[in-house]
Amino acid sequence: MVRLLHTLSPAISRLGFLAASPPSLRLQRNHFHKHKPKISLLSPSSSASNLQRTRACSNGNRVSSLPKRESSKLEDDGLVVLGIETSCDDTAAAVVRGNGEILSQVISSQAELLALYGGVAPKQAEEAHSRVIDKVVQEALDRANLTEKDLSAVAVTIGPGLGLCLRVGVQKARRVAGAFNLPIVGVHHMEAHALVARLVEHELSFPFMALLISGGHNIIVLAHKLGQYTQLGTTVDDAIGEAFDKTAKWLGLDMRRSGGPAVEELALEGDSKSVLFNVPMKNHKDCNFSYAGLKTQVRLAIEAREIDAKCSVSSATKEDRRNRADIAASFQRVAVLHLEEKCERAIDWAMKLEPSIKHMVVSGGVASNQYVRFRLNNIAGSKNLKLVCPPPCLCTDNGVMVAWTGLEHFRVGRFDPPPPAVEPDDFMYDIRPRWPLGEEFAQGRSEARSLRTARVHPSLTSIIRGADSLQQQTNTNI
Ligand code: KG4
Ligand code: ZN
Repeated sequence: MVRLLHTLSPAISRLGFLAASPPSLRLQRNHFHKHKPKISLLSPSSSASNLQRTRACSNGNRVSSLPKRESSKLEDDGLVVLGIETSCDDTAAAVVRGNGEILSQVISSQAELLALYGGVAPKQAEEAHSRVIDKVVQEALDRANLTEKDLSAVAVTIGPGLGLCLRVGVQKARRVAGAFNLPIVGVHHMEAHALVARLVEHELSFPFMALLISGGHNIIVLAHKLGQYTQLGTTVDDAIGEAFDKTAKWLGLDMRRSGGPAVEELALEGDSKSVLFNVPMKNHKDCNFSYAGLKTQVRLAIEAREIDAKCSVSSATKEDRRNRADIAASFQRVAVLHLEEKCERAIDWAMKLEPSIKHMVVSGGVASNQYVRFRLNNIAGSKNLKLVCPPPCLCTDNGVMVAWTGLEHFRVGRFDPPPPAVEPDDFMYDIRPRWPLGEEFAQGRSEARSLRTARVHPSLTSIIRGADSLQQQTNTNI
């Protein structure tokens, strides 16, 4: 059964002012009319990009408190955006103000399904999203003490992710936007992971570096400006989150909170130098990652110690538990060492391309891991960069990051006009299951990289660059 989990910050519970000052909210509708859409990130097309990923992607229950915002240094532009996220196994919605204030956040986790299937089963995940989406969105509005009429826009993740799951969120977003005549912003999931750091850290301005680590992605990007990214490195096979999830599954850990937190917890009991795993891609002088080989090393170590995943760690003998903890700790150390090595090189590359960078963002589900944060903080510090890690509840998938990214693009005029109140039955939703964030840095291209390029959507960066130069041409012709 899917459970509804709510996270509510102390700031949100101080909502009284909103009810007290509705006029400022009404202003936002005018804001929309002032802005003409410059470029649409969400337009009807591309059923061809409806390819589904079938990797294991898992998230756990997350009820951590949101960052406390004593006072907001960001200007309040009167905007209020609803963000909807359904790209993987969590149904999430949130309402965020233009000044970065999180008015509400609701997450419905598919934890039980995850434990049952040992990973994300797309059809079951889609059904679970469909069952709860209306409730999650309503709850987000109720907790923000708002109705749809108070919104400036609706933001929704349109990719990358599982096609069937993305569709549920996009359909809901278009229904809300259509019924209430609201503009709609299509959001890139990985850009949202990166940009939520700007909500948390007001000093974080472009350009900056970002390591984005989740269940399906492992990328290092140089963020030049909003919507413009150079991809310095990516994974040639699996992402680190996938390796955490499989390690957890093979070690017989409780998957209901997703694999990562379970491995992190057990690793605390183990000796991280007891099992000698090789650090991946030692001889590759690039910033790419590979976790498939490390997964195999873990599996072999588990088999060699005759660990039975069907016997849960809680009922294992003392010695068996100790063996499992040693594997968890050793895996985590090497998995993170791989991140550290590649980040060091990526920072050097990034400094040459953009010498003014001052920050390194680490975000995505795996960035909620304390060991990851500690080790990468050392790397950033050694290169004179400040590490910005969103709080754990904003690292794992959430609606806040979608609302915030929607706000950032909406402000500069990147949105679609309201959809029709009633959409035709055969309407083709624009969803982008395989959608790169940035343009690949030529020096960083890996020969080891799989050449699977079928049904890959043009990158967010190339779409925005194309639209911007078209706009410039139009302006000079006028
Ligand atoms: O970003 P995210 O919530 O969803 C995707 O976009 O994939 O990331 C989920 C991934 C999962 O693989 C999960 O096991 C991992 O993040 N994760 C962690 C931790 N919390 C979540 N990995 C390591 N340590 C954690 N504490
Ligand atoms: Zn994610």
